[in-house]
Amino acid sequence: MTRPSRVAVVGATGLVGQTLLTVLGERFPGLEHVRALAECGGGRTVQFAGRTLPVEAISEEALAEADVVFLAATSAVSERFGPWAAARGALVVDKSSRFRMDPEVPLVVPEVNGHLIQRGGQLVASPNCSTIALVLPLHALLRHRRVTRVLVSTYQAVSGTGREALMQLEAEMADGLGGEVRGTAYPKPIAGNVLAQCDHLDDAGYTLEEWKLTRESEKILGTRLRLSATAVRVPVRIGHAEAVYVELDRPVDPEAVRDWLRATPGIVVVEDPDYPTPREAAGSDAVYVGRVRRDLHEPTGLHLFIVADNLRKGAATNAVQILEQSLFGESVRS
Ligand SMILES: NC(=O)c1ccc[n+]([C@@H]2O[C@H](COP(=O)([O-])OP(=O)(O)OC[C@H]3O[C@@H](n4cnc5c(N)ncnc54)[C@H](OP(=O)(O)O)[C@@H]3O)[C@@H](O)[C@H]2O)c1
Repeated sequence: MTRPSRVAVVGATGLVGQTLLTVLGERFPGLEHVRALAECGGGRTVQFAGRTLPVEAISEEALAEADVVFLAATSAVSERFGPWAAARGALVVDKSSRFRMDPEVPLVVPEVNGHLIQRGGQLVASPNCSTIALVLPLHALLRHRRVTRVLVSTYQAVSGTGREALMQLEAEMADGLGGEVRGTAYPKPIAGNVLAQCDHLDDAGYTLEEWKLTRESEKILGTRLRLSATAVRVPVRIGHAEAVYVELDRPVDPEAVRDWLRATPGIVVVEDPDYPTPREAAGSDAVYVGRVRRDLHEPTGLHLFIVADNLRKGAATNAVQILEQSLFGESVRS
């Protein structure tokens, strides 16, 4: 296969699904057979490359002909349809967390471990949006140094929780800051607020999002990182930011680190005194890294500030790059 012939996007009415259709249209504008699937059709339509597609209810029949399936719905949907479609010979790119830590399923950021993707039918997991942005700079560092400790604090956009969360933010903003909770995506108001909880909190005091950062990063990079995270939701629509502290096995000059980062596909270094922001990163496929500096006290310690569009590189673009890697052996554009 040199180009996909029949593509199915499951979750096409959601934030990731809509962005997938946009990125697919940018990179494969001539694609003729694209099916947009969701829980129900309901007479809805979505746009693909200037065409209007009907939304259909997901079923085995709707997926049977597809040679490429993007799953951007729920973990239960991925469990039900992912292995089934892959067994029939489709490349299945799963955006849910269902198979990410399955040892049989590659978890891929193409610039880091794209070699794990085969040509043809396979189930491939795409990581969590915060993990994708984090592993690119860590990969650049690991090419030159051993990483002995990583501490991450995230500032995650509301779109990372899906369309209902964006609706909650908008309803609360319409009320003016200081109002009540206006939705079910978050237990406290998100407008004008900062929530130190992304997903469920476990008995150890860590949230699911924080565990994803630790476990997924180690699986992708193939090494222990001693990574601990604090994942925080902020009232930003699109674009996750991460303040990252990394300890290396020996001291390094921040200018050398900037050079390593510049040499890594997919990364854009933002030079001091400028720094990346979610609003500037939104709509872009790059992972932006700025504020690269030595720790004040620990000679092997380094600080970075990372920003990426969670719906594009954090989700849709990474998934389409997995398709490109499967087709061409590399992603044509990072
Ligand atoms: N948002 C992000 O930044 C991000 C990043 C990385 C990964 N992800 C993952 O990507 C997936 C989609 O996230 P999202 O933010 O796009 O969510 P979303 O905006 O809430 O959209 C959910 C989509 O899933 C569909 N869906 C729900 N239940 C379904 C079912 N039983 N059968 C078929 N389709 C069903 C919905 O269809 P209906 O319109 O019919 O309800 C809708 O298209 C999730 O697994 C999420 O964890 C999200």
